[in-house]
Amino acid sequence: MPQVAVFPGDGVGPEITRAAAELLQHVRPDLRLIEATVGGAALERGLPALPDDARALSDASDAILFGSVGLPAYDSKPLAERPEYALFLLRRDYELYANIRPVCVFPGLENASSLKPDLVRGLDLVVVRELTGGIYFGKPKEQRIEDGVEMAVDTMIYRAPEIERIARTAFELARGRRKRLTSVDKQNILETSRLWRRVVTALAPDYPDVALDHLLVDNAAMQLVKRPGDFDVIVTENMFGDILSDEAAILTGSIGTLPSASLGTKGTPGKQFGLYEPIAGTAPDIAGKGIANPTASILSAALLLRYSLDDEANAKRIESAVERAYAEGARTAELGGALSTNAFANAVIARL
Ligand code: IPM
Ligand code: MG
Repeated sequence: MPQVAVFPGDGVGPEITRAAAELLQHVRPDLRLIEATVGGAALERGLPALPDDARALSDASDAILFGSVGLPAYDSKPLAERPEYALFLLRRDYELYANIRPVCVFPGLENASSLKPDLVRGLDLVVVRELTGGIYFGKPKEQRIEDGVEMAVDTMIYRAPEIERIARTAFELARGRRKRLTSVDKQNILETSRLWRRVVTALAPDYPDVALDHLLVDNAAMQLVKRPGDFDVIVTENMFGDILSDEAAILTGSIGTLPSASLGTKGTPGKQFGLYEPIAGTAPDIAGKGIANPTASILSAALLLRYSLDDEANAKRIESAVERAYAEGARTAELGGALSTNAFANAVIARL
């Protein structure tokens, strides 16, 4: 029986993840869904951010449906004592190097964007973010005192094979879409970016059907709000991807609608082990109120079916039901509607 580890986490994570898990169970009654505590919720119980039972559960599962992690109370703690460490460990230890973040504007939501509706109508792009390298993981990474002065260092480091594998993921994805790939770097300043650009460029002959171009990250940030419709697939390193994917997400009017898939080396094509999570954070301001938009979690469940359970049919079914719900006016609070988290999820279930 296929098994999914459900890690709700903190903030709005539990509300939206449980709503999505219920929907997933409805679509696939054969799945075994098992929940475990991670992140701040675990720290609050005196456990590490990723307790042993959670890790054992994900080891034994086909995929992880993840909520969100982070609690303001831990803001001044070092990474290893923060809720986010759970995510850091899962990404690192399962080598989930390919973070796929599709950004779509649902028909009917064009007016929710802070950009002019004409700029975002029909928007459909994907950010492919490298997730296990770069400045997030490079060593040294520490704070220390040198000659009596407090200092801190993070290290941005990339090896050519890490760049090649994420670039291949992006080229393949572009091939199945509009065949345009934009690689984003900062090659005028960073050595890692010069290597990045060289490796990506050298792969282009393997994908003659894909049009490749390069943008510097500052320019990419600008072009994303200027002409978002021109983008198809964007591939970039870890931190640039973190920043650009939030920017791309808000083009849609609500960051609460964007899912993501993090895939790695475990499993076989179509049945890859993966972690699926909203790209938005814990939204502490609305946590516990039952009003958070569950769309990102629901669409993450669809990606889980597509990439980890080889179930394209049900993935599409969920995505179409979400699209219909929006087209027919279903809205949560941040989009000016009155539906609660569960009411929105039910509106999607009703349209499956
Ligand atoms: C994301 C988040 C994480 C990241 C945080 C929670 C560590 O912002 O997935 O985009 O920076 O990768
Ligand atoms: Mg982020």
